Amino acid sequence: METYSIEQIIKKRRTIRTLLDQDIAMNVIEELLEISSYAPYHSKKEPWEVITVSEEQERQLFVEEIMNSYDRLDIWARYDQQNLATAKKRTQDYFLDVPLTLIVTAPIHASEKLNLEAVGAVSAFIQNFQLAAWSKQIGVTWRTIPVIFDEGFKKAVGVPSQRQIIGLLDLSLVDAKMKLPTSRRIPVENWTAGLAEKLAENGGSNE
Ligand SMILES: Cc1cc2nc3c(=O)[nH]c(=O)nc-3n(C[C@H](O)[C@H](O)[C@H](O)COP(=O)(O)O)c2cc1C
Repeated sequence: METYSIEQIIKKRRTIRTLLDQDIAMNVIEELLEISSYAPYHSKKEPWEVITVSEEQERQLFVEEIMNSYDRLDIWARYDQQNLATAKKRTQDYFLDVPLTLIVTAPIHASEKLNLEAVGAVSAFIQNFQLAAWSKQIGVTWRTIPVIFDEGFKKAVGVPSQRQIIGLLDLSLVDAKMKLPTSRRIPVENWTAGLAEKLAENGGSNE
């Protein structure tokens, strides 16, 4: 098996939105989650919690709750009558086809600092997961669809009101024959500046 350096994995990983109709073994997911938990965190307790949607029955319930939430949030308002049924079916079929979803949550803190630390740590956990999954040919789509902010949805999928969903991670094996998406990043010099340069840019004022 080919091995890749961490630099290669970071740069080669892509969000994979194409689903492959193949199960992903739960023991592999557990192994990836264990690796992910070595993310940095700055609280007494590790802040991440994960709900897995893997069984057929769980998927049915999960998709039903996504559709209920879309109705509650009036997501369909922008569709005319003609396209509504197709749009709903497309959404439902997509979520039914995802082989495995992870609901990843962090605690909600009233303190801005503690909340930032919790969201930051759980985001680092998610990125660890994406990278470790990529090294095992598992593609991830990190989703922040509107349902994650819906208290009704949270309750229906077992997320307590004092926790926030940081992402729904849709997982699928990556088809070895698939042409992988390419991605470019803006050159470093476009978004880095020395402090003196930055202050000069702001007209010498540090207000
Ligand atoms: C916080 C966060 C939320 C995201 N939410 C979504 C989403 O709701 N739907 C989606 O298709 N992709 C989502 N993505 C994936 C991004 O669109 C993707 O990372 C971006 O296009 C860069 O592509 P890459 O991951 O292949 O580098 C999200 C990514 C992040 C970091």
